Amino acid sequence: MSVLTGAGISTDSGIPDYRGPQGVWTKNPQAAVNATIDRYLADPDVRRASWQARLTHPAFGAEPNGAHRSLVDLEHAGLRRALITQNIDELHQLAGSAPEKVIELHGTIRRAECVSCDLITPMPEVLARVSAGEDDPPCPRCGGIQKSNTISFGQALKSEVLGAALDAARSCDVFVAVGSSLTVHPAAGLCGEALDAGAQLVIVNAEPTPYDSFADRVINEPIGQALPALVKELIDAAR
Ligand SMILES: NC(=O)c1ccc[n+]([C@@H]2O[C@H](COP(=O)([O-])OP(=O)(O)OC[C@H]3O[C@@H](n4cnc5c(N)ncnc54)[C@H](O)[C@@H]3O)[C@@H](O)[C@H]2O)c1
Ligand SMILES: [Zn+2]
Repeated sequence: MSVLTGAGISTDSGIPDYRGPQGVWTKNPQAAVNATIDRYLADPDVRRASWQARLTHPAFGAEPNGAHRSLVDLEHAGLRRALITQNIDELHQLAGSAPEKVIELHGTIRRAECVSCDLITPMPEVLARVSAGEDDPPCPRCGGIQKSNTISFGQALKSEVLGAALDAARSCDVFVAVGSSLTVHPAAGLCGEALDAGAQLVIVNAEPTPYDSFADRVINEPIGQALPALVKELIDAAR
């Protein structure tokens, strides 16, 4: 079994999604425009605003919830091979999922990267500089522009990361997609890859997705209850 998670698994931990009813972009569509890599590199004002937003990003105070923990149970029961996530909050690892099995399609906000020399720095170190008054802190090694170690719009996914996700989607018997609007590609396309390879597709999401009609099972319920219940059912069935 392979699992794909999106922002909807972390809303119960206090991190808003983008496209749900309370989503960051549903409420402020301009934020999506400012999230492109070209705008970020070209406009110091966009970078300054981005550093301020990172300073108060809800991921840093967030705790994993029962849905994250249920996927740890699935792993420990030997039923879950890969955990592919679109999330950048690292709550799966904090919940106890083995880090080497978590495929972070869109990177992590808990590290910073230099766009010139690729230096990776723990995000708290860079945020401390922002707090101390550097509103757009340059790379300590080369002076280049820094950003979070996440994939911005207009940036390609890392090929080895996407390759691992494709492998996981194409080689599973069941592909479970949780808390994603399944509208961002290539992540959403993993559902199609799994189906093409003969897997069953299970979707857990409050709102409809473009893949619902291809799914073997669609659970339109709150993830905090629905996912632990599904995991229990799967573990019981495997006994
Ligand atoms: N926690 C995070 O790390 C985080 C948060 C926001 C956005 N993002 C990034 O933004 C992109 C967003 O795409 P996406 O498809 O992951 O999210 P999305 O915002 O496009 O879709 C989230 C879906 O989850 C559903 N949902 C939200 N809370 C739910 C709940 N408690 N129960 C059931 N359903 C619920 C919403 O109805 C929505 O359809 C991702 O690529 C990700 O990198 C990450
Ligand atoms: Zn650098």
